[in-house]
Amino acid sequence: MSSRWPENVGIRAIEVLFPAQYVDQAELEQFDGASAGKYTIGLGQAKMGFCSDREDVNSLCLTVVSRLLERHHIKHTEIGRLEVGTETIVDKSKSVKSVLMQLFAESGNTDIEGIDTTNACYGGTAALFNALNWIESSSWDGRYALAVCADIAVYAKGAARPTGGAGAIAMLVGPQAALIFERGLRATHMEHAYDFYKPDLSSEYPTVDGKLSIQCYLSALDICYRLYRKKFEKQHPEQSQRGLQNFDAILFHTPFCKLVQKSVGRLSFNDFLLSSEQQRLEHFAGLERFNSATLESTYFDRDVEKAFLAQSAEVFASKTKKSLLLANQVGNMYTPSVYSGLVSLLIGGPAADLVGKRIGVFSYGSGLAASMYSIKVTQDVTAFEKFVAKLDYVLPLLNAREKIAPEQFSALMEVRERNNHAAPYTPTGSISALSPGTYYLKDVDALHRRSYDRTPTITNGVH
Ligand code: CAA
Repeated sequence: MSSRWPENVGIRAIEVLFPAQYVDQAELEQFDGASAGKYTIGLGQAKMGFCSDREDVNSLCLTVVSRLLERHHIKHTEIGRLEVGTETIVDKSKSVKSVLMQLFAESGNTDIEGIDTTNACYGGTAALFNALNWIESSSWDGRYALAVCADIAVYAKGAARPTGGAGAIAMLVGPQAALIFERGLRATHMEHAYDFYKPDLSSEYPTVDGKLSIQCYLSALDICYRLYRKKFEKQHPEQSQRGLQNFDAILFHTPFCKLVQKSVGRLSFNDFLLSSEQQRLEHFAGLERFNSATLESTYFDRDVEKAFLAQSAEVFASKTKKSLLLANQVGNMYTPSVYSGLVSLLIGGPAADLVGKRIGVFSYGSGLAASMYSIKVTQDVTAFEKFVAKLDYVLPLLNAREKIAPEQFSALMEVRERNNHAAPYTPTGSISALSPGTYYLKDVDALHRRSYDRTPTITNGVH
């Protein structure tokens, strides 16, 4: 074990999981009686992944952790900390982390710190920060940490239902990483709000104030971005006043893609408000009418929104659009959402294009907790290309999914709804629909104890 402060700490490997079944958003519009284009254009969503009663948060985490360890040939004994971020609670006491310890039983490794963290979609970022902090702390024993996030995002019938989704991400954290977290560049904002919460413990569905949730998201974005800019400019005075130009890519928590496009406009509006007279002339010509606009009065101001959407169109196209692939195709994964954006970015073009680049990340969880931070991609081209090549399974897996008609999707949602917390219970959802190497819920006994099985893996380690 080295006694030196570990260097280049960050993500050494990343694994993504999404449901094997989806519903088409254009078909869902029709089924729901919504106007054509509301979900696909208005929200920017193409497909929504969903889980039958065969999968729960435990099974998603079992699958994603197993696949990561197998794909990257990591021994179970090499893990010293495992953190889970989720808001999909199946037990008020027993952690998902403790369920994951089954995977480590055979290796005899029980010396693994970390448990679960919950605050809406922010739990994954909290888990990741805990993992990074451990590696950088005096408690670190030289082993890797794993940060896992997983959720099943389901809404009651109505306006919010098309903004559902599901998925999981596992990240192997350690020194000499491919994706390095920039020290001292985390900006956080937390406050009390009832924008989205789950007070009914018997239901999977949240209570949502849609409009307030968007206002909370945008105001947290404003605050985190301004704080990030301050911290960044203190570290890099020579790069002061460059705003979004300091990022090569910008990722966001993505409840639906349209909000992210608007968020890029919002960041550009912040840059405008923080710019000098000279900069306004150079970069924001024609926007003088907004000189006296304020952040607080413009969350839903159509003129501001339209003007800065247009002004930031090029930034969105070059720095954010690629990161929306999985969000557009799977939907809101809650805690994994922003990290699915990271995976989408990584597979969205030649790895070499990202070498040495700075990625800005905005993570948001209702209630509310939010952070903006930045990641620097390693300068080591060969190592980075290898790291990205490990994600070559993502697109084939995405394209191999099965489309389910809205009627059947709705019926499967009702099955989940009726049997949430039922015991004893044997799920009825299809096992053959699941991809190779997927853990699934076998049954729940009369004492609510859940047992799992796994679909056969493909021997070459590709799932
Ligand atoms: N063609 C094209 N666009 C159309 C259309 C059509 N036929 N019909 C409507 N639209 C547009 C609307 O104009 C609107 O776009 P703009 O806001 O740009 O004008 C968009 O489609 C959505 O329409 P509405 O605003 O009427 O939608 P709604 O009010 O019925 O529901 C919602 C939208 C509030 C986001 C709802 O889906 C919801 O509550 N979702 C869950 C909450 C959420 O995702 N909040 C996001 C921030 S909170 C967060 O980030 C945490 C989290 O993960 C939950």
